Amino acid sequence: MTVSDRERDAMARALGLARRGPAGVNPQVGAVLLSPDGAILAEGWHHGAGTAHAEVDALSHLAPGAARGATAVVTLEPCNHTGRTGPCAGALLEAGVARVIYALPDPTPVARGGGERLRAAGVDVESGVLADEARELLSDWTAVQRLGRPHVTVKWAQSLDGRAAAADGTSRWITGPAARADVHRRRAEADAIVVGIGTVLADDPALTARREDGTLYDRQPLPIVLGDRSIPEDAALHRHPRGFLHRSGANLFGEHHGDDPADSVLEELRRFGVHRIFVEGGPTIASAFLRAGLGDEILAYVAPTLIGYGPDGSDHPALRMVGVSTIDEQRRLEIADLRRLGDDLLIVARPASASNEGDH
Ligand SMILES: NC(=O)c1ccc[n+]([C@@H]2O[C@H](COP(=O)([O-])OP(=O)(O)OC[C@H]3O[C@@H](n4cnc5c(N)ncnc54)[C@H](OP(=O)(O)O)[C@@H]3O)[C@@H](O)[C@H]2O)c1
Repeated sequence: MTVSDRERDAMARALGLARRGPAGVNPQVGAVLLSPDGAILAEGWHHGAGTAHAEVDALSHLAPGAARGATAVVTLEPCNHTGRTGPCAGALLEAGVARVIYALPDPTPVARGGGERLRAAGVDVESGVLADEARELLSDWTAVQRLGRPHVTVKWAQSLDGRAAAADGTSRWITGPAARADVHRRRAEADAIVVGIGTVLADDPALTARREDGTLYDRQPLPIVLGDRSIPEDAALHRHPRGFLHRSGANLFGEHHGDDPADSVLEELRRFGVHRIFVEGGPTIASAFLRAGLGDEILAYVAPTLIGYGPDGSDHPALRMVGVSTIDEQRRLEIADLRRLGDDLLIVARPASASNEGDH
């Protein structure tokens, strides 16, 4: 690969420009146009769904013909399809760009192929420049492209003997402050936080992401409550800074009883630009996600405490039915991380087959 220092610097600059755009349904992309002697002619970035792509945004700052012979440095392969905006590969050809350098290939079947199209038209094309940085920036977006749905983390706190609550349904607190602080930090990295109505009725959670001093993180995931029962009028959720969504338990994932996947809650969230979902229980909802094969990452916070079941036999295991009736069907996982948080342990696990896919 023959890429000059100036071109590499321009890619670093383009990555910075990409970050100015919103993370959501569309990828964050930046572009820098260089003159043949390496001077910056124009810059652009993608301002969000339905607006000009980064390359076209950069070209729009130049007079017609001013990009002839230029080099376009772009963080993602120029697209090759007409959506709400035209194909960027075509726009670059029309502008007479002589060289195109991009960091990452476009992973979407509909848009890929821009690099090939440019090369076929005689443009000098290089790829893979600062690819690791670009991959990191777009990791959530590419995971959604690969999975065809948001990435799902399922989290629970359990006693050493696998209980998520005591016989009377109380569960505060099984784990200590360090584990709870870790949960809040991770909540703040998600786009949406999901709980079942059973948890709202039992615990009245605020579902905000808070620092240890009680202040709110800047980034607050959108709370989503699943279930048909109503949310009490005085529930703490009504005071959440982002409000909340309340959806029925029907057609969560679009794969049961012939439900239309396009109407599923998961698809609705994807259309909202939700990349990462944090499922916080309770056991019924966590199990429903896992039963449907929707647990890309599992966080089990394990406390050195014993709960067992109650004198009347009532029991609150961390999970309920996950679709395993015989040992051959057990959901085999791989440990991705194991750490001690105060007195507790955090076990991060992923489905054995997904562990090497490296989506983040
Ligand atoms: N240790 C922990 O990490 C943790 C975390 C959270 C909660 N908890 C504890 O767990 C208990 C509450 O858990 P839970 O299992 O009773 O409640 P849950 O999982 O929070 O909610 C279950 C309810 O969700 C609704 N639902 C929506 N979609 C569903 C689907 N596809 N499948 C099944 N149900 C669906 C149903 O209500 P409708 O019938 O109204 O639709 C169902 O009764 C409390 O004791 C709480 O303290 C512990």
